Amino acid sequence: MPATTRRQAHSPRAHRPSNPQTARWGSVALCRPRRASTLVAVGYLISRIKGQDGGVLAELRLAALLDTPWAFASTYESELGLSLAQWSERARRGATGGDAATFVATEGDHGVGLVSAFRARDDPSSVELVSMWTAPSARRRGIGSALVAAVLNWAAEAGPGRVSLWVAEDNDAAINLYAAQGFTRTRDTQPLPSDPVRMELRMQCLLGT
Ligand SMILES: CC(C)(COP(=O)(O)OP(=O)(O)OC[C@H]1O[C@@H](n2cnc3c(N)ncnc32)[C@H](O)[C@@H]1OP(=O)(O)O)[C@@H](O)C(=O)NCCC(=O)NCCS
Repeated sequence: MPATTRRQAHSPRAHRPSNPQTARWGSVALCRPRRASTLVAVGYLISRIKGQDGGVLAELRLAALLDTPWAFASTYESELGLSLAQWSERARRGATGGDAATFVATEGDHGVGLVSAFRARDDPSSVELVSMWTAPSARRRGIGSALVAAVLNWAAEAGPGRVSLWVAEDNDAAINLYAAQGFTRTRDTQPLPSDPVRMELRMQCLLGT
């Protein structure tokens, strides 16, 4: 995986399609997770992170925060200070057990995508999807969709429930991605924690029986 060493200038406007087909307001829809057999596609592999892959997780997550700082609630600076032990603990949580999961997309030896999810402590049927990212060189090839589908399949293992996420309201690429997987917008909005002059909106979908 190429190490990203400096922040690049990005703005959500630069990623906007000229005619965005963004998700519209709607009632909560059913998620559309694909079967696990469809999650391996030519050229890339989606897999759950391994407990010993704290370094891989750190590299992917920091690359994501450098690449598209405007897309995330957290910042590169806030996560740069995490120790390898802390990244390893995150990887361990995401690797096993039912309360959290992290999936990575790899091409050969290179990590090209990341997503994490966790269950609410007080309501295990409620799953939060976070940290969604595909490396720029690997976009528009279905990797983001496959990562979201991996989360939906993992969430569905616990039975019926709900998967929710926050997304910056000017992030049309991500909103389109989530809408294609069955997420709809709710009316919940809040300031983006990393850039409070911008807003993020809540999307969610229901896991059927
Ligand atoms: C959003 C993101 C994860 C999409 O990843 P990806 O691997 O390119 O997604 P996919 O190839 O699976 O695309 C699935 C669908 O999403 C939508 N989409 C993806 N990128 C898009 C773009 N730039 N503009 C408009 N729609 C887009 C399309 O509907 C696409 O289907 P299509 O290619 O058949 O038209 C990726 O662009 C990314 O990492 N962006 C920066 C980080 C980010 O925004 N994370 C989300 C935080 S909430």
